[in-house]
Amino acid sequence: MNRATHIAIIMDGNGRWAELRGEKRVKGHEAGAKVVRSITEYCAAHKEVQRLTLYAFSTENWKRPKVEVEFLMKLLEKYLKSELENYLKNNIRFEPIGDIRAFSSSLQKTIKDVAEKSAHCDGLIQSLALNYGAHDEMLRAINKIKKADEDITEAMLYNALDCKDSVDLLIRTGGDHRLSNFLLWQSAYAELFFTDTLWPDFSVKELEKMLNNFTKIERKFGGLK
Ligand code: IPE
Ligand code: IPE
Ligand code: MG
Repeated sequence: MNRATHIAIIMDGNGRWAELRGEKRVKGHEAGAKVVRSITEYCAAHKEVQRLTLYAFSTENWKRPKVEVEFLMKLLEKYLKSELENYLKNNIRFEPIGDIRAFSSSLQKTIKDVAEKSAHCDGLIQSLALNYGAHDEMLRAINKIKKADEDITEAMLYNALDCKDSVDLLIRTGGDHRLSNFLLWQSAYAELFFTDTLWPDFSVKELEKMLNNFTKIERKFGGLK
């Protein structure tokens, strides 16, 4: 039976969720943050899930209006500060991926602080993709190792990436069927699950259904059954 040891989620649809309610887009981000908590706690309680990578802010999301970007930065800082206790209580290690150097020094400090303080936890790894783009990740990885005289191997490149784990199950909420520059290398053999559910409405129940369907898939990795 398949085990989804690495689940990755493109948490999309926050803005539309709020607009459908006649609210400002940022209300959707607030509601979305609560779902991050419940999905993370569910995964932490399910030992077969070792890593949960969540797309929180892409390298392209800087194109959004300044007020929305600023709100997202504040929400992230608030979320991480309030979440530390929960991480420790549930034995969750927080590991950011992406280039956080673009963030304010206070936000960078919070991100590093929460990562350091939860580094000893050996349960679920909750990896938040922050100012993450797969192209940017690959370029930074290649630039890190390019000085080597020898040819770059798959293992060398994997080691230099922010996320060093292949994805088993990749979920996108919000109805669109695209990857939006998320974990392109790591998802080479991921099973892709798309749902119309907007992220703030995504539930543990829907995730459980997906996990159940995932166990039935025949994964062949190019071979024959
Ligand atoms: C995803 O929701 C969250 C982020 C990108 C930060 P969106 O904000 O993209 O919501 P929609 O897709 O516009 O509804
Ligand atoms: C992807 O959602 C990024 C995150 C969920 C953080 P977007 O809403 O930014 O993606 P596009 O623009 O619809 O492709
Ligand atoms: Mg979107």
